Amino acid sequence: MSWPEAFRELEPVVQRAPSAHNTQPWTLTYGADHVDIGWDPSRALPVSDPTRRDLFLGLGTFVETCLIVAADTGLRVTAGHLRLMPAADRYDTPFTVTDVEERRCARGRYAPGPLPGVALEPGLVRVPAADVAALLPVADRWMFGSTPVTAELREWLRLTPRHPRYAEDGLTDRALALSTMEAVGLRVALSPRVYAVGRRLGLPSLLAGASPVSPEDTVFVLTGDPADPVDAGRRLMRTWLALGRHGVAVHPLSQLLDCPHTAARLADLVDGPPLAVFRAGRPLRTPPRSSRRPTPR
Ligand SMILES: Cc1cc2nc3c(=O)[nH]c(=O)nc-3n(C[C@H](O)[C@H](O)[C@H](O)COP(=O)(O)O)c2cc1C
Repeated sequence: MSWPEAFRELEPVVQRAPSAHNTQPWTLTYGADHVDIGWDPSRALPVSDPTRRDLFLGLGTFVETCLIVAADTGLRVTAGHLRLMPAADRYDTPFTVTDVEERRCARGRYAPGPLPGVALEPGLVRVPAADVAALLPVADRWMFGSTPVTAELREWLRLTPRHPRYAEDGLTDRALALSTMEAVGLRVALSPRVYAVGRRLGLPSLLAGASPVSPEDTVFVLTGDPADPVDAGRRLMRTWLALGRHGVAVHPLSQLLDCPHTAARLADLVDGPPLAVFRAGRPLRTPPRSSRRPTPR
């Protein structure tokens, strides 16, 4: 069996990589001695991610996941941007298939207290949580105030188990840590008719609600070269896996970078261009395992 054929068997595991809105945008094209990673345009977020920052960060998390899973199963593979190629040695990584399988985002409350000392990837900066807590409602109001951004989000929400793609992709009520009543309320509020009226009557402020970030939280910003988001995505993946090993989960807050006003304020807090922002902590409740599409055969 060639290494690309052996790698194909690993697809169900590499699909555990994280992506914005859980779109799982990656595609794999198999050659005789390489595997190309591409993306499906129908799984990009052209409205909320017009610069494709999150798309390429997600492809970076996928590249890193592919390398880790290949290494842990004995395949000697390296990556050149979005191509997997044969290598002399296994990819040098402390992470394993188990780390990939166990990692998950957590959007509920975190236990108070400091985080364990984890070696941080280059470009990762801790920022004052109080500043981020103050900015988040502004970003949320911006997001819910934009009809096209909200319409795109609606396409990826799976707020009832009756949704036909509930087990495949997108953001479920459980992943968003919503109670049944909250999920019903959000579904009604974001339904096109209610939203169209509510948007003019203060619905965006209501939906933004209280900030999930408290001043005692730990918040990180990943900085990097905006021209190389794949590399940043790989660092992001390694960071989330390293934290995950210590029982620490993350909650990305990309709307802070999507909203022009909060993006500018966040940039003032760090030295390089911010590419991702997330809070990190020990979840009070075990977060659910997010859904994934079945692996094509
Ligand atoms: C580049 C990127 C941006 C993301 N942005 C957000 C975000 O703004 N808010 C959020 O709650 N989750 C965000 N996520 C987390 C994804 O929604 C999550 O990875 C996906 O739903 C799969 O869940 P899992 O990571 O628990 O497997 C982001 C993930 C990535 C890779």
